[in-house]
Order: sequence, then C-alpha cells, then structure tokens
Amino acid sequence: MPPWTQLDLLTELEPVVGRELNRHLRAAREWFPHEYVPWSDGRNFDGVLGGDAWDPSQSRVSEVARTALVVNLLTEDNLPSYHRDIYESFGTDGAWGTWIGRWTAEEGRHGIAIRDYLLTTRAVDPVTLERERMVHMTQGFASPYDLDMLHTVAYVSFQELATRISHRNTGRYTEDPVCEQLLARIAQDENLHMVFYRNVLQAALELAPDETMRAICDVVSTFQMPGNTIEGFTRRSVQIAMAGIYDLRIHHDEVLMPVLRQLRVFEREELSGDGESARAELVDFLAGLDNAATRFTEQRDARRARAAARR
Ligand SMILES: [Fe+2]
Ligand SMILES: [Fe+2]
Repeated sequence: MPPWTQLDLLTELEPVVGRELNRHLRAAREWFPHEYVPWSDGRNFDGVLGGDAWDPSQSRVSEVARTALVVNLLTEDNLPSYHRDIYESFGTDGAWGTWIGRWTAEEGRHGIAIRDYLLTTRAVDPVTLERERMVHMTQGFASPYDLDMLHTVAYVSFQELATRISHRNTGRYTEDPVCEQLLARIAQDENLHMVFYRNVLQAALELAPDETMRAICDVVSTFQMPGNTIEGFTRRSVQIAMAGIYDLRIHHDEVLMPVLRQLRVFEREELSGDGESARAELVDFLAGLDNAATRFTEQRDARRARAAARR
C-alpha cells in the first residue's frame, strides 16, 4: 500500500470524527461558568474605580496553589494558539470543522471561569496575572513536531488527560471547596475531550498502524505540557511536582499508561517495519520514565521527611 497522505487520512477518518462528535454532543451536559463563581465575595480594585489594591493577605489559597492556578489559567488562555494548530492539522471540512468549533467554544469557558474565580476571590495579583497573560499569549504555543493530523491527535489525547488531572488535583490542593468544585467541572470537560481524541486515535491506529504508532512514540517521548512556554515554567512546574499536583509518577501512571492501554498499544499485532521500531522505542522510553518517576518520588519523600524532622 502506498504511504498515506494527510488528505487520505483526513478523508478516511471523517466518518469516525462525525460519529465521535455526535457521541460527544450526547454526553456533554450544558453548564454555566457564572454559577461557579462566588460573586458576592468580590469588590472593586484600585485604579479606574478607586477600590482596594490587591494584597497577598487577601488570598485564601496557599502560594503553591496560586502557582498551580496561574499556570492552569495561562495554559487555558493560550487557546487561540491551540486553535490555530488544530485548524492547521485538521482543516475545516465536514465533521472535523464542526468539532474544532465546538471544542474551541468549550475550552473558551475554562479560562473565563478560572479568571472570574481568581479575581472575585482576590486569590492572585491581578496586575501580574494580566501582564503574564500578555507575554504568554504574544509568544503563543509552539508544537514540537510538524502539524500533521496524526501527531496532533496523539498529542491532544495525552494533553487533555494531563489537563484534566492537573485541574482536578489543583482544585483539591487549594482546599477551597468553591475552587475545587469549579475545577472538577472543568476537568469533566477535559475528560470528554480526551475520550474524543483517543477514540479518533484508535481509529487511526486501525487504519494506519505503523504511521500512528510512530506519531504516538514521537509525542510520548517528547511530551511537554501545553503551558511549557509560560515564563518561569520550569521553576513553577517543580513547585507543582513537589506538591504532588502533577509529577512524573502521575504523568506516567495516570496520563500516559491509561491511554496507551486503552489503545492496546502493547498488544497490537498488525504492526510492521517502522511501527514495530516505534513501539520498541516507546517501551524503552516508558521504562526510563518509570525509573525517573520512582527516583523523583523517593527524593521528594526524603525531603519531606527531613522537613518534618526539623519541625
Ligand atoms: Fe481546558
Ligand atoms: Fe480540553
């Protein structure tokens, strides 16, 4: 069989996208971000309306929780960049285009809702937040691979689950029930997005097993969180990992492995040539990641024990 062209793959998978879109529309329940925001906790800020300036003492969440919330919000804020990427990868023909519109509209409410919550409750510095948003959105999101459909579908399958877990764990970490409830609701959206992309990825594996396995291997072995271009991301992601909100162990056990198992990546028999090599590389990579995750959690445990002993 001749190698697949992008157009062939998009055309062949369009009926699958249509089916998944309909399944998504049946499963997704309408919800309203404004219902999740405690508006009566809010008041005017200084500046144009002459209210009170922000002060860290007003925040009811910890500094680490603020870091995670800001990273999650800036990640959601960068939606125009992701929209451009998936538009370029999928095109707008038929169900692909309808999905892109729907997905973008659902993602749009995540940033809206988190910002409304953060500003109403005075959880973070609004001036710093706005300046960071300007820098981050101006820079945009840079995909580490070509924007072909297979790599993009593989990336978003893992990324949606990563954001789901990150929102859910951030919500719990804040110990603010209002915030936890909001982020749990957003996490439900991310879960449905993951299911959509994972089901499309599964159909791609059945249609073009070798090419899809290569894309999965490329994506897993170079995976970066979508917010990785946020200024100071490395420092902040260390804080987030040390808090157990999102770390290598979670990434391996709760993001990569569940998707790979659901796709039966390790059992598939229809691979040949480069597909086989890609799977072997993937297995090696995962073993290395698993070891690194174990080392990280051991070091973190030791550090926590030392800190507890000092107290
Ligand atoms: Fe989102
Ligand atoms: Fe999503």
